[in-house]
Amino acid sequence: MEMIRCEDLRKTYGSGSSEVHAVDGISLSFEQGTFTAITGKSGSGKSTLLHLLSGLDRPTSGKVMYQDNNLFQYNDNQLSVLRRRRFGFVFQAYNLVRELTGQENILLPVMLDNRKPDEQYLKRLTEMLGVEDRLNHLPGALSGGQQQRICIARALANKPSILFADEPTGNLDGKTGREVLTLMRTISNELGITMILVTHDLGVAEQADRIIRLEDGKIAEDSGEGAHPITSDGGDYTGRKSSDGTRRGSVG
Ligand SMILES: Nc1ncnc2c1ncn2[C@@H]1O[C@H](COP(=O)(O)OP(=O)(O)OP(=O)(O)O)[C@@H](O)[C@H]1O
Ligand SMILES: [Mg+2]
Repeated sequence: MEMIRCEDLRKTYGSGSSEVHAVDGISLSFEQGTFTAITGKSGSGKSTLLHLLSGLDRPTSGKVMYQDNNLFQYNDNQLSVLRRRRFGFVFQAYNLVRELTGQENILLPVMLDNRKPDEQYLKRLTEMLGVEDRLNHLPGALSGGQQQRICIARALANKPSILFADEPTGNLDGKTGREVLTLMRTISNELGITMILVTHDLGVAEQADRIIRLEDGKIAEDSGEGAHPITSDGGDYTGRKSSDGTRRGSVG
């Protein structure tokens, strides 16, 4: 099932001789439960593309379809509600509220939405992320890797259908970064969450099902391309199947 797609997406900054085509006519489709890495040199348009796909920023032209919703037909308020309920975000900077404990940080998006936390789900999530014994600490008492894992739990607290991550391992040492990546992969698999991750680290990108490389705002390479559509036997178009051979389920 297709989760999100963009059609001829463009974002242009400036005008005249200083015009920059940060995203220059990109069309992509992402299947539910898949893990995609977007790579490319600095300035190739990775963050801009992620911000457009996730509705954080509006394009100059083109559209983003999330299931049957054209994101940019919504006003800012409607868009932020949709983002809060259906999308999760993880950035390079940990962005935790310093005055709140790990647990309180994780619960923040659920509280903002006036919803009751799903205790069982959150317990499973924090166990999967290995932070269940760090929940009562303030961020200042946590290592970088632990803080980033709390951020991932917070991003997943509302059971989003898509998790967007921009260089989530950028501030971590190599080993910790790989551990965090492995966790994200496991979660994508087990919870059926679609992950779209930006990284300039090829080692990180190699852990993904699909690698898309950008160059000057355009797609230079797409390892997932040509593999569409999903085969009639139910096989995942990435060639990856869950251990029992069935397609992965979804959350929520
Ligand atoms: N707000 C802005 N105003 C003007 N130009 C911008 C703006 N944001 C991005 N750009 C330009 O758009 C291009 C793409 O930027 P983007 O941040 O998407 O690159 P990136 O691939 O994420 O790079 P990095 O790996 O360094 O994070 C760059 O040339 C950048 O200078
Ligand atoms: Mg960037």
